[in-house]
Amino acid sequence: MAKSRPSDPAAVHARESRRLSTLLEVSQALSGTLNLRSALHRVLEVLAKHHGTVRSMVTLLQDNGELHVEASDGLDQSPHAIRYRLGEGIIGKVVESSKPIVVPRVSREPAFLSRAAKRPELPKEELSFICVPILINRRAVGALGVDLKFKADRNYDRSVQFYGIVASAVAQAVKIQRLIEEDKRKLLDENTQLRQELKERYDFSSIIGSSGPVRQMYEQMSQVAATNTTVLIRGESGTGKEMVAHAIHYNSPRANKPFVKVSCAALPDSLIESELFGYEKGAFTGAESRKKGRFELAEGGTLFLDEIGDINLTTQVKLLRVLQEREFERLGSTETVKVNVRLIAATHKDMERAIAAGTFREDLYYRLNVFSIFVPPLRERKADLLLLVDHFLEKFSHEHKKSIKRISTPAIDMLMSYHWPGNVRELENTLERAVLMCDSQVVHGHHLPPSLQTAEASGTVTRVSLSDAVAGFEKDLIQDALKTTRGNRAKAARLLDTTERVLNYKVRKYAIDARRFTA
Ligand SMILES: Nc1ncnc2c1ncn2[C@@H]1O[C@H](COP(=O)(O)OP(=O)(O)OP(=O)(O)O)[C@@H](O)[C@H]1O
Ligand SMILES: [Mg+2]
Repeated sequence: MAKSRPSDPAAVHARESRRLSTLLEVSQALSGTLNLRSALHRVLEVLAKHHGTVRSMVTLLQDNGELHVEASDGLDQSPHAIRYRLGEGIIGKVVESSKPIVVPRVSREPAFLSRAAKRPELPKEELSFICVPILINRRAVGALGVDLKFKADRNYDRSVQFYGIVASAVAQAVKIQRLIEEDKRKLLDENTQLRQELKERYDFSSIIGSSGPVRQMYEQMSQVAATNTTVLIRGESGTGKEMVAHAIHYNSPRANKPFVKVSCAALPDSLIESELFGYEKGAFTGAESRKKGRFELAEGGTLFLDEIGDINLTTQVKLLRVLQEREFERLGSTETVKVNVRLIAATHKDMERAIAAGTFREDLYYRLNVFSIFVPPLRERKADLLLLVDHFLEKFSHEHKKSIKRISTPAIDMLMSYHWPGNVRELENTLERAVLMCDSQVVHGHHLPPSLQTAEASGTVTRVSLSDAVAGFEKDLIQDALKTTRGNRAKAARLLDTTERVLNYKVRKYAIDARRFTA
């Protein structure tokens, strides 16, 4: 078969259509994967296959100003060893000037460094080298270089144009890759920063208080934080149970894993199981796709079951199994899911009464109550009240841009004599309201809500009979003694200089829940 001359119209047509199909393959290779290196490698293979490139490589400019080989084809040595500085060799010059360079005869070019083809003997055939810049926003970020067999009649302008188009497709891919990487880095940075903020926010030190009961609570928290033990946090509404749960998590080895909360009271019975355990597609009407439950979402971290006392009996059975075996099934699935999750539960309910009434399973209670932490009500730690008042005043004056300096003595007296049924939350709300109402630098009694305006403040102290006052005092003394002895009645009796029999009688008489004090 006679070889067609390059200027022959049929040959020109064949070459152009080969170039077009190459460009198509190149763009497919670059858009087919998010792995830039393998996409570039594929591009160089396409060039070798359709255009007979002997060697080819893509170099990219690094942060340190060096050019590294990102992908190569047909090289005689490891591409990792090849480095260029800007302005060095042909490739360095192309990147520096952002202009293509053509070397028709490599053997005659002194600037040709030949790092990619270090062979003792000179190549048998003459090669041409074409190097085009990879441009992003008109600045070179690298270069595409190809070695071709020397042909006297090669149209170098057309070749440069063609490899320039390939290089611009490569530039697009590099640009996208960099945008993705930047986004990823931004998200990671943001994530680390948020985690740090969370850690600080939920540090032990963010829980204000230095009274005896709170110090005892800190001690228990630090004992249990480092372990995987299930914790039951008890205490009235608004005492800070959720804060305690957070602090335990963020001071545990699981701190960098998720903390997932489930408000058992807020979820209707029909939803709680699917929330906890997740479901498979089609498990029930409306289950259009598979959904992970909170147990799975908390993998490696902590699951906080708030208001556990409100959970229904059937869910209690399932929960018991997870606690015992650390495994469960998603709704509508037979596949068993294993989880590594630390459980923290909280309740303001009297669990012993719930067990007696048959609304809470005793076996589940024992599984949850491995280590219990009691968060004392505010009225039992009035010593902390001033600290909390200062803390909240500062917090809210800052938040609402007020310059409140102090709180008047009568206002403090009102806060001190109130019984705080809503505990710290109620105090927090009270002070936010006071800060909003206050138009001077001092918070006064009249900035406090009506519920606090009774008693001493308004001079309407309720009269109490002597026997009631004595009974109240006696009850307080017994509770204090039980607290000190962590619920040990014999020791408490000794502390109060009485007998265990008398103490037991009084505990019953005043309906004191002695178990509450057992740690
Ligand atoms: N010791 C404390 N120091 C600072 N802020 C506190 C403290 N205790 C509670 N708080 C604040 O009081 C509010 C109520 O706390 P938290 O939600 O933890 O209470 P809770 O016991 O979970 O209440 P509930 O039983 O009603 O859910 C929160 O805004 C919390 O920031
Ligand atoms: Mg809570």
